[in-house]
Amino acid sequence: MEMRDRRRYPHPFVHELKLTTAQKVRGAVLGAVLFPVRVGVAALFFLIMWPIARMRLAGLSEEERAQPIQGWRRWLFHTPVLLLSRAVFFSLGFLWIRVKGRQAAPEEAPLLAVGPHSSFLDILVLLPSGLPSVVSRSENAKLPVIGALLDFNQALLVSRTDPDSRRRCVAQLKERLTSKGRWPQILIFPEGTTTNGTALIKYKPGAFMAGIPVQPVLLHYPNKLNTVRWTWKGISWVQALWHTTSQLYTNITVEYLPVYTPSQEERADPALYAENVQKLMAQALGIPATDYVMESRVPVRKLGCLSLPPEPPARDALRLLQHDGMLDMVATLNVLIGSCQSGQDGSISSDQLTSLLGLTDRQTATKICDLYSKGEHVDLRQLAVNLAAVSGLLHVESLIDMSFTLYDGGSKGSLTAVEFGDLLGALVGCFQPYSAKLYKEMASRGQPTRGDLQALLTGHPTYQKLLSQYLQPEEAGQTDTTPLTNGRTENQNRLLKNGIVLSNKKAA
Ligand SMILES: *[C@@H]1O[C@H](CO)[C@@H](O)[C@H](O)[C@H]1NC(C)=O
Ligand SMILES: *[C@@H]1O[C@H](CO)[C@@H](O)[C@H](O)[C@H]1NC(C)=O
Repeated sequence: MEMRDRRRYPHPFVHELKLTTAQKVRGAVLGAVLFPVRVGVAALFFLIMWPIARMRLAGLSEEERAQPIQGWRRWLFHTPVLLLSRAVFFSLGFLWIRVKGRQAAPEEAPLLAVGPHSSFLDILVLLPSGLPSVVSRSENAKLPVIGALLDFNQALLVSRTDPDSRRRCVAQLKERLTSKGRWPQILIFPEGTTTNGTALIKYKPGAFMAGIPVQPVLLHYPNKLNTVRWTWKGISWVQALWHTTSQLYTNITVEYLPVYTPSQEERADPALYAENVQKLMAQALGIPATDYVMESRVPVRKLGCLSLPPEPPARDALRLLQHDGMLDMVATLNVLIGSCQSGQDGSISSDQLTSLLGLTDRQTATKICDLYSKGEHVDLRQLAVNLAAVSGLLHVESLIDMSFTLYDGGSKGSLTAVEFGDLLGALVGCFQPYSAKLYKEMASRGQPTRGDLQALLTGHPTYQKLLSQYLQPEEAGQTDTTPLTNGRTENQNRLLKNGIVLSNKKAA
């Protein structure tokens, strides 16, 4: 799906549970009885599993543990752990597990890709799948019981903080996935984090690097109330557990889709492979495939190496300004640009912004500062560039030109690393860690000039998409004001009168 189609889709990392009064009362009464009983019984089964899980690898050396478990260890403990796990979920209210389709054998599809990832309770999918191995955060291995179960599972561990561990994990994954059935199947949640299920987020390519066939698995919770979900914002995991256990039972359906064999092209390009599997699963679910990911615990959208805020902050800034009565964006931009000293840090306080723009509500400026920084300040250059980008008032070349002029300190005709990073951050709407690497590459041919910047931003597909799709003005009808794209040339001329846009540039 093109980014353009994805653009309007809000991120699915929030889940609220809306209950009627009757449902609340019923939940409170049932929950008061069922929650302690169910959680207590589940915890008991969990504890019984602990020593059994430990026994599987007991007495084995590190090397032996790094090999697939064979012989009696493999089958003796498998069934008890499977039954006890089933008992845990049965006690929590998952009385039946409905299964659709057929699970492929490990030789057919060494990888099971499960989505959408809704909750910690999703781990239930391991039971009908015959306890395949999982990938888990290495911190989890230190938890009581869970650590033993991960050991039992011969789970692959990866640390979020250690880049080496990620590399090791990908290598291990590849080894196991290409072992032709020597290792058990591997089950992953390629989204890497939970969502509210209204869209699939971008798949992590790690497990797709082996280029082996994958079986997509859909996980449905067809219930009147969506109680199991636990996402970034919204209800907490305890609430999810409370609401789930206070239902008499909870439906779950595991649906095995046909095995998907990657093409030559997909084998060579794991990102493409991952994306195509994501699209296939999204289509089967009837929901959009989006390019959202969770990065450092905030939702972003990925575009090449760029991390984009779900919406350019200037769109909100624009709304705030319009709400405050600033309807003539050309005039507003002229004031902002006119107040920027070329190449100088244009940081001003919200009070200064209020008086500069003549805002009626002080809160408007505070909220605008909030969009760009945690403090009560905003860089005028950033605001001007970001607003100009989403306002659609300028042609792309003029926008780049104006940005260059604002960030080129001392009008030296080129950008330093800091200036370049700030400029790219201003354009996108938030700082881009990737800009340092990009600058290094560009600067190997000399400090980037106005022409280099134009060539980069208009010539590279990622930046073309950034400018032509992500930073598009909102379409007519989606805002309560006239679309700003109308009369772009006329607006441009009004703006170009402001010396800064044309300075250093041959009249076009
Ligand atoms: C799930 O996320 C979508 C997209 O942000 C949102 O529109 C929807 O209201 C969310 N659903 C719930 C139940 O929170
Ligand atoms: C479970 O699914 C059945 C249909 O298969 C439905 O009638 C029932 O209401 C569902 N249960 C809950 C708790 O939503």
